[in-house]
Amino acid sequence: MEHCDLLVVNIAELVTAPVSTQARHGLAMSELVQIKDAALAVEGERIAAVGPRRQLEKQFQPVEIVDVKARAVVPGFVDPHTHAAWAGIRAGEFEQRIAGASYMEIMAAGGGILSTVQATRAADLSQLMAETGARLERMLTYGTTTAEIKTGYGLDLANERKMLDAIHMLDAQYDLDLVPTFLGAHAVPSEYKGNPDAYVDSVVEEMLPDLGTMIYTVNTETAGSYRQGAAQFCDVFCERGVFDVEQTRRILEAAKGHGLALKLHVDEFEPMGGTSLAVELGATSVDHLVRTGDKELQLLAGSATIAVVLPGTPFGLGQSHYAPARKLIDYGGAVALATDLNPGTSWCESMPMMMALATRMMRMTPAEALTAATLNAAYAIGFGRSIGALAPGYQADFVILESADYRDLTYRYGTNPVAAVYKKGRRVRNLCGSY
Ligand code: NIG
Ligand code: FE
Repeated sequence: MEHCDLLVVNIAELVTAPVSTQARHGLAMSELVQIKDAALAVEGERIAAVGPRRQLEKQFQPVEIVDVKARAVVPGFVDPHTHAAWAGIRAGEFEQRIAGASYMEIMAAGGGILSTVQATRAADLSQLMAETGARLERMLTYGTTTAEIKTGYGLDLANERKMLDAIHMLDAQYDLDLVPTFLGAHAVPSEYKGNPDAYVDSVVEEMLPDLGTMIYTVNTETAGSYRQGAAQFCDVFCERGVFDVEQTRRILEAAKGHGLALKLHVDEFEPMGGTSLAVELGATSVDHLVRTGDKELQLLAGSATIAVVLPGTPFGLGQSHYAPARKLIDYGGAVALATDLNPGTSWCESMPMMMALATRMMRMTPAEALTAATLNAAYAIGFGRSIGALAPGYQADFVILESADYRDLTYRYGTNPVAAVYKKGRRVRNLCGSY
């Protein structure tokens, strides 16, 4: 018999995307490994084996056995696009939007992102960490075990650095892992109003050399490690009235030169050509894609860049038009899901809610939504070889659902489908108390 630290038994069904050397594209997104009456063996922080219960009970001598009472088990969710770190609220703007004002009108008038910049600059490190920590707690409770998290509410060197410090300290404090992205180009701050190119100069010449200087190693076999204070990705909000394609190119080429991997916000409100730029520069992901045209969708689908779709954003804005995820998958693309958690367009910590929206509003199947929220999301932040699937050698990050059927993740909505959350082999949240 082999030794293992933990054997999880009486799993009604264990469901995961199969391990693969790249993100799952097209039809492959709906192919899942689905084991009925399953067990999962953990050794240290990693999965030792998954398989039929009878087989694993014969194979392993566990230190601890956990009986999950005929519930389903899926990988911990990976949220590959969040703006979870900010201070303040914008409920007043939400009310204005309900009354008819548009998101971009509010932004052009100095509200929107800039009002959160004001509140975030005014907050000290401990306040920023406290407000952000409450959101990380909710993310964990909803089954997210790894999340990308962006700066972008500081918009000057000192405040962008404060945001990165908060992210690194929260990463050390909380049970979920955080992957930091530098989003200095989230908006043109008021001190540069009317002079976006001068702000781009400051991002390229002042901020990137300081905050983006990379000594991190992305080890695809294990988790990555970062120099304290550094970001792993650089992102730009490429949109009319924010940063155009040329400004975006300048920032991303500079970021690449510093060793950062790339992400972009594109076509959230208007098509701009940012998707082609993302593919040309070999970005890890390109995100939003609500208004992207057919030609660019086909280009993206044929590339290695992952399409991150954010159904919480049109929902949060009360819009009826969603990213064409169905088309992207039918064209053979790799799609990942994320919350976009932020105070303006999508204040929602729940990946199951995104899966519920993805199936209804974007016609993704429950199986595609699971792949998009786990393995493809892991690839969208560069960690698809170590998290996002339940397979030997993968990090033991998994979620025990309330239900016996994984499709309830998408079928039911608005309440929490999670019974317990395991991170690196340890139970970090227990919401049901009964197993
Ligand atoms: O992804 N589009 C840019 N950033 C966020 C919104 C941020 C905010 O409004 O504070 C988004 O929707
Ligand atoms: Fe965003």
